[in-house]
Amino acid sequence: MAGHFITFEGVEGCGKSTQVKMIHNWFLRQHRQVVMIREPGDTAIGDKLREILLDPELKEMTPVTEALLYSASRAQLINETIKPALESGHTVLCDRFLDSSLAYQSYGRGLDFQTVLSINEWAMDGIMPDLTFLFRISAELGLGRTVERNRDRLEQESLDFHRMVEAGYEDLAVKYAERFVLIDGRDPIDRIHQQVIDAVRKLF
Ligand code: TYD
Repeated sequence: MAGHFITFEGVEGCGKSTQVKMIHNWFLRQHRQVVMIREPGDTAIGDKLREILLDPELKEMTPVTEALLYSASRAQLINETIKPALESGHTVLCDRFLDSSLAYQSYGRGLDFQTVLSINEWAMDGIMPDLTFLFRISAELGLGRTVERNRDRLEQESLDFHRMVEAGYEDLAVKYAERFVLIDGRDPIDRIHQQVIDAVRKLF
């Protein structure tokens, strides 16, 4: 692929979305070709799936349904946006991707790791992130930061669930050490931004 694929991961309230926007602006200032997206959603089909996935009313959703819908949204985004952008040399910045499904649906919900990985490999059609930032903060601290917002279906899950997600990300960072960059999510925003820039520069 001509372009680079960079993903941003972490528990609720870890600060990744702020950092994606900041590094996106950095790319624009450098006049580099860049695409910023977030999951689930960012296609017409994905946005409808996002509504279903995050709807706090849909408490009956089974873990398998959840895993399939996230991977369906991903399949659409890969096909419509990510693949074409990478092929034409853009850097793609994605707020959450594969590792969210592994952390939330496998470590969090308890679905078999290999099965979640397999359906996602099918959805990703040969694409894998080149670089993944993990913004590390405790589930307690992260959830505390989301208190002010209206909590969506996943944010309403128990602290224990979010602790398993947090532990899952730590495992993934070891398993996929070659593409993970670990960031202390408690650092000041500008310091984190600088760390993101430094890691991105190394990729080019
Ligand atoms: P969003 O509002 O985008 O949350 P955040 O700002 O934390 O990224 O909602 C996405 C939610 O979906 C979030 O709780 C994590 C969850 N999620 C999964 O469980 N699996 C996935 O594969 C993805 C992409 C997200």
